[in-house]
Amino acid sequence: MKSVVFFVVSFIVIGAGVSGQTQTTDTLRLFTNLFANYSKDIRPVERASQSINVLYGMAIRQIIDMDERNQILTTNVWLRQGWSDANLKWNPDDYGGITKITIPSSNIWKPDILLYNNADSSFKGAMKTNAAVSNDGNVTWFAPAIFRSSCKININYFPFDKQECSLQFGSWAYTTEHLNILNRSASGDTGSYLVNGEWKLEDFPVIRTLPQYSCCKYPYSVLDFVLIIRRRSLFYVINMLVPCILVSALTLLTFYLPADTGEKFTLCITILLSLTVFLLLAAETMPPTSEVVPLIAQYYITTMVLVSASTVLTAIVLYIHHRGTYVGRAPSWFRRFTLDYLAKFMCMGDCHNPDVKDKIPKINFENASGSSGSSTGVVEAGLHSNEMPLELDVANLPTSQSGTCVELDRRGRIRFIMSQIASCLQQVVEYSEDAIVDEEIKGEWMRIAFVVDRFFMWLFGLSTAVATCGVLLQVKE
Ligand SMILES: *[C@@H]1O[C@H](CO)[C@@H](O)[C@H](O)[C@H]1NC(C)=O
Ligand SMILES: *[C@@H]1O[C@H](CO)[C@@H](O)[C@H](O)[C@H]1NC(C)=O
Ligand SMILES: *[C@@H]1O[C@H](CO)[C@@H](O)[C@H](O)[C@H]1NC(C)=O
Repeated sequence: MKSVVFFVVSFIVIGAGVSGQTQTTDTLRLFTNLFANYSKDIRPVERASQSINVLYGMAIRQIIDMDERNQILTTNVWLRQGWSDANLKWNPDDYGGITKITIPSSNIWKPDILLYNNADSSFKGAMKTNAAVSNDGNVTWFAPAIFRSSCKININYFPFDKQECSLQFGSWAYTTEHLNILNRSASGDTGSYLVNGEWKLEDFPVIRTLPQYSCCKYPYSVLDFVLIIRRRSLFYVINMLVPCILVSALTLLTFYLPADTGEKFTLCITILLSLTVFLLLAAETMPPTSEVVPLIAQYYITTMVLVSASTVLTAIVLYIHHRGTYVGRAPSWFRRFTLDYLAKFMCMGDCHNPDVKDKIPKINFENASGSSGSSTGVVEAGLHSNEMPLELDVANLPTSQSGTCVELDRRGRIRFIMSQIASCLQQVVEYSEDAIVDEEIKGEWMRIAFVVDRFFMWLFGLSTAVATCGVLLQVKE
């Protein structure tokens, strides 16, 4: 019983070994016969006038890099090519029923299809993987490749841009007379695409064109695999746009700061500097082109112009603010324009300071002669006794009552001293009156400066908003 089992087992093992050996020898025989008279340099057609149809397809694996500065796109793709090789046909019955063999692609003829818009110095192309050959001569060759292709980058709407980068394939030597490239499908395969953090793949269509060149009677067949990719702009919004908007909003503060702090100008210049830094950062990521001004640069430039203008406006405000020290009152039209119309226009209420106006008549001596008791009253009395009563005293001096010359002399001296004091007081009062008038003039200029400042603040806020919207609304979906 044991020996029977042994025989059966050994028979099966030997049988399998023999059949395996036949397979190997069949393949070897097929391979030897196929390549006995095969030349991979010659186009494998039965008649020389015949054209070879190449079905060409592509699957995108990954967008490795988009170099905007050098306008180079690096992609990882799988190429899928199929054609019919008239010299690689056999009858499966002669070779133990083998219908398909896999052989190194370097042994067989391959269509010379290459990337037209190659930007790589090595021109390596696809990896030399194995190709599958079936008994009716159909060759299927799948190969991975990493391509560096040139791509015209349109940065008009950076960072809200959409790019169309084409991978253009065609035969270098053969026109459609000898080699016809056809697309396997209407669009590239995106099934195994690895999602990119910066670019969103929107579409991957294939376009077949037949360009005609002056060299040849027949046109060439060219396939364009168009990668339509949109930039994910969140990164740029957070890192470039939001800080810029915030910084330019800070410019409003320069108008809000009181002129006396002396910080208005410093703030303006600081903001201008920080905007320049942002502009430099943005310029580093963009290709140095002068064809178009990208959206973000437009925005930065607009903002910088506005901030520069605000610096000028701040200078004007400071000039008005400190003008009261050097000149008289503002011209009446200017006063009316700023304090009446402009203030009302901005709903700031009445900007004429009522306190100062009321104060002036109080110390005005023409009106205050009746008042007494207060310190002001004493001053007024002194002032008035200087003007007229002293003269009266000299005229109506009651000499009969005093009698003596000594007394007269003493009185004269007292009168003299009194008049001296009175004139001193007069000077003091005049001086303080001048000072009050000066104060009022200064205050008026300051109020004008304040109104103008507020007006500029609204002007700037409005123009910033308009500019921001105007630039950012250009973004096309
Ligand atoms: C190869 O070509 C020779 C003549 O050049 C011919 O004798 C031979 O049969 C051919 N071999 C095959 C496998 O066709
Ligand atoms: C070989 O290609 C032809 C067309 O090119 C097709 O009709 C045929 O089915 C293919 N054969 C195999 C085995 O795929
Ligand atoms: C090849 O591409 C064209 C568009 O360029 C498309 O209309 C056609 O259907 C595609 N061919 C195949 C076999 O999908």
